[in-house]
Amino acid sequence: MKPRVFVARPIPDQGLHLVMQCCQAEIWEGELPPPRDVLLSKVGEIEGLLSLLTERVDGELLDCAPGLKVVSNMAVGFDNIDIAECTKRGIPVGNTPGVLTDTTADLAWALLMCGARRIVEGMDYVRAGKWKTWGPMLLMGQDVHGATLGIIGLGRIGEAMAKRARGFDMRILYCDVRRREDLEAEWGLEYVDLDTLLQESDFVTVHTILSAETHHLISEREFELMKETAVLVNAARGPIVDPQALYRALKEGQIAYAALDVTEPEPIHMDSPLLELDNIIIVPHIGSASYATRGKMAGMAARNLIAGVKGERLPTCVNPEVYGQ
Ligand code: GLV
Repeated sequence: MKPRVFVARPIPDQGLHLVMQCCQAEIWEGELPPPRDVLLSKVGEIEGLLSLLTERVDGELLDCAPGLKVVSNMAVGFDNIDIAECTKRGIPVGNTPGVLTDTTADLAWALLMCGARRIVEGMDYVRAGKWKTWGPMLLMGQDVHGATLGIIGLGRIGEAMAKRARGFDMRILYCDVRRREDLEAEWGLEYVDLDTLLQESDFVTVHTILSAETHHLISEREFELMKETAVLVNAARGPIVDPQALYRALKEGQIAYAALDVTEPEPIHMDSPLLELDNIIIVPHIGSASYATRGKMAGMAARNLIAGVKGERLPTCVNPEVYGQ
């Protein structure tokens, strides 16, 4: 008998084929995530769960899944999963690090460029039939080349942003809980505290994990420190930026622009005041959404799932303490 698993959405074939070969799989075919009560009923008899960042995996879910041997999250982030609860029950959790680093940095960089040069406003302007002549003052924005980039969180994606910034001759500041002197030398980075980064950066880009410490890390006080011309990019997790403070900062001209791949909540509510502003771009959490990268993520998630149901060590495990080492 193949092990029973639940896959919370159709995923690219690179992963789906592996799962179908090795497991008796139920795939949730909806475009929307399975409703909570449905998810809780589906996990009752499974050994493996392939989750996405839309599935909350917590004590309640784990209580409904007595036979669960593995949670494989098709994402690098795992703030949707209560890792401590999984570890307590000896359940390994897998994620998909590495393969999406450059793809996500590409998207964050695209947002930065769009914010700097008002690309989306330009398209709206053309579409609205307002383009009557070349204008000496039309849609002026910020130069990216030679400007100062502030990277909050120098993990894999933060480093990939630094690499891109080098090509634009930028001064690069970063803050992190951990100083990375090796990377400072490699990419010409300056290690500063958060306040200095906010005060001196023309572009601020967020790449930390979401945790109790980083929840609303960027709020009223932080916007007050930023330049009036600053562009804020967030392609990490929505709740790192306080949306009400962001609205005020954009509305009152405390900063010039925000370019977001992530929001709080997700999806953003259609009555969010942020959607009334012109100086914001929001895309629907598509940082890793290239064909190639989503295929690789699906493959990794499938391999973690299959290893877990076989009782083997997961290739990429976020709580290796379940293996007692
Ligand atoms: C996407 O946000 C991920 O964590 O992979």
